[in-house]
Order: sequence, then structure tokens, then C-alpha cells
Amino acid sequence: MKTIRDFAAAKVAGRKIAMVTAYDAGMARLLADTPVDCVLVGDSVMMVVHGEADTLGATPELMVLHTKAVARGAPDKFIVADMPFLAARKGRAHALDCAAALLRAGASAVKIEGVRGHADVIAHLVESGIPVMGHLGLLPQSVHATGGFRVQAKQAEAAAQLREDAAALVAAGAFAVVLECIPAKLAAELTASLPIPTIGIGAGAKCDGQVLVWHDFLGLNPGFKPRFVRRFADGEKTLRSGLTRYAEAVHGGKFPAARESF
Ligand code: KIV
Repeated sequence: MKTIRDFAAAKVAGRKIAMVTAYDAGMARLLADTPVDCVLVGDSVMMVVHGEADTLGATPELMVLHTKAVARGAPDKFIVADMPFLAARKGRAHALDCAAALLRAGASAVKIEGVRGHADVIAHLVESGIPVMGHLGLLPQSVHATGGFRVQAKQAEAAAQLREDAAALVAAGAFAVVLECIPAKLAAELTASLPIPTIGIGAGAKCDGQVLVWHDFLGLNPGFKPRFVRRFADGEKTLRSGLTRYAEAVHGGKFPAARESF
């Protein structure tokens, strides 16, 4: 996937979109020559890399740093960078500066959580030539307002609000939308009715694509096992085993060997 036109084409062709998060150049190099379609430099970096309890600590500067690293590792992938907490809520100029910095850092698009109260900002970015991916359903940046990381839009009223929000995003010019932790039936309905691709996480199989957090699907986040995550590798086991064998080799004087020395 090279441009937002490829997202539109994938939707028309019924071709599913595989997106993963990445935060540094090493991770990006690993995925660079895989069939993964696009990369999200998510503000989940605060939780899985920086060890915080939520994503609120992400700043434009930090997102720029991680975006630059990912772009160096996977220069040919379509990179979406998260606009951090409140970056879209301080007016058009602030949002434009933040989005511009992320695009200069190597992103091809930005992702913005929610739409109510900042649809005009999204429209302004789009009109300024900055592709925007929306994000609806569970909004991690609003964790304190929603009272935790929980499935959203289960009740009819909340589902109706989500439909309205999705329509507002389309009207503002978003090229795709992440649907996080909503009932699969609602995600399927939105996928069928919206003209832009839906990328699901905890939103069932009918979305136009899926996104997973690197540490979750590669088994690097041992305590975190939500229903929507499938482990595609046992990273924890592999890395722990390598670390243990390394320490044992050093402690036992077995590393480095003569052929590993100058
Ligand atoms: O920050 C992130 O990783 C995200 C995904 C969970 C969609 O927004």
C-alpha cells in the first residue's frame, strides 16, 4: 500500500488490509519486507514501550521521534502516525503544526481519535493535504471519561451515536476509520454502509482490515490477553529463552568463543 488511493481500491476489490503498530527502526525493518500493508505509529507506544498505564503521556515531539525511527526502518510502507492526546482539540493551527511535523517525520497520514467537537479540524487537515484516518469506538485517549478500556456502543443509543460519528468522519474527508472494541454486528453494518475502509481491532471479522499492537500479537505482553488478540508468535518464550542462554553462556565462560573474538 503506497497511498490513500490503495485503501480505496482495497475496499472496492474486497481485499483485506493488514495493519500493525511499530515504534522503532528495528521493528520497522522486520516488517518492511512482509506482506503487512501498513504501519501505525500508535500512541500505544506509551503503554507497551514506555510502560505507562494509558496513552495520555504521548506528546507531538515523542510521536515525531518514533515516527522518524519507523520511517527509517520501513521507508516503503504506508505509515500512519497517531495525533497524541488533545492535539486535535487546541484549534486548527495547533493540529496542523502537529500533523505537519508527523508528515515531515515520514508519516503518510495521521490518525485522530473521535470526531465530535473537532470535525472541523479534521476537515481542515484534509483540505490542507493531510490524509486523516479516523478512530471510533473505544478511544484510549478518553479512558478517564469512559471509565476504563471497555467495549463500546453495545446499547442502541450509543450505536446510533457511533453511526452519526462515522458519517461525520466521512463528511470531514477521512480516508479510513479504525473501529476499536465495538460489537462485530455493528462493525459489519458500518463496513457495509461506509464508503471508506474500516480497520478493526476487537470489532470482528467483517471489517475491511485489522490492526493489532506489536507486543500483543507477537506475545511480548505476557499479562495482556484480551479476547480480540491472537498470538501469532510466542515472542516472550523465544526472547526469554535467548536471554537465559546468553546469561548462562556468559556466566559459564562459554561466550564469546575463539571464533567470535578478534
Ligand atoms: O495506539 C494504537 O496502537 C492504536 C491502535 C490500538 C488502533 O490506536
